[in-house]
Amino acid sequence: MKFIHSGKVKDVYEFDGKNLLFHFTDRVSAYDVRMITDIKGKGEILCKFAEFWFKSLDSKNHMVRLEDKDKMVVKKLRMIPLECVVRGYLYGSLYERYKDGDYEMGLEPNMQIASKLKEPIFDPTTKSNIHDQPISENQILEKKILTDDKLRTVKDTSLRLYKQMSGLANDKGFIMADVKFEFGEDPDSDEIILADSLGPDEFRMWIKDSYKSGEKQESYDKQYLRDWLTKVGFRDNISNAAKSGKKPVPPELPATVVQELLNRYSYVYRKIAKL
Ligand SMILES: Nc1ncnc2c1ncn2[C@@H]1O[C@H](COP(=O)(O)OP(=O)(O)OP(=O)(O)O)[C@@H](O)[C@H]1O
Ligand SMILES: [Mg+2]
Repeated sequence: MKFIHSGKVKDVYEFDGKNLLFHFTDRVSAYDVRMITDIKGKGEILCKFAEFWFKSLDSKNHMVRLEDKDKMVVKKLRMIPLECVVRGYLYGSLYERYKDGDYEMGLEPNMQIASKLKEPIFDPTTKSNIHDQPISENQILEKKILTDDKLRTVKDTSLRLYKQMSGLANDKGFIMADVKFEFGEDPDSDEIILADSLGPDEFRMWIKDSYKSGEKQESYDKQYLRDWLTKVGFRDNISNAAKSGKKPVPPELPATVVQELLNRYSYVYRKIAKL
């Protein structure tokens, strides 16, 4: 099989003329940097979790079938170069922008970190190899990334899927704070359908019982790794490296951090995807 792309997490192969093979590896990344330590077993969980969402959600998607426990055949699409982020809570990079005075999203002043937004918002970013940048709906139209109609489809579908996923998560005791979707056009029908992957690398899940607005949330997703990296000073290394035009060198993850991460991935998967 022809290898075509290695992302931070997935390896992508040409499966046949119409389809791709996604291999969900055990790699993990944070702050757009690939870690040097693998989380053994993570790929399998992510692959099965993606399968669960594609089967559960009422939206056409690119999944053809599972080929192995960590491999999925998907239909090859013309990808839309956007990360379609939907946020239900003021957190992560939205909170950073908000603190810096960006009220463009129609948020009220004096909101606390992790507070629930009145309505979920569509907050897309560009897809970039270096660092994804927020992009407004107007810019998407001006840059002719999408037509009016297609933008509406992508936005409405993203918001609808967020509601469906967060509703499902809520029933299982989780708050899905935000999520990232990617879409592509089916070359046979020109229809816009859901692509890429859905799992803990694409969303933030918080435990409902321990949720408290105004605080950083204890999370069962990659936020744990981000917090650990911040604690050991890697976040500062990233900004320093960026200033000097160098690549930041990630630290080796200790066995306890690896185990804790795997536990968290597997906990959310079992709680949400298993009966
Ligand atoms: N059905 C599809 N057809 C064609 N390309 C797809 C399809 N689904 C997803 N893709 C693309 O395949 C690639 C998957 O690779 P992966 O997500 O591992 O890496 P990446 O997006 O380059 O980097 P990152 O690690 O930041 O996600 C992405 O570029 C994604 O946009
Ligand atoms: Mg990706």
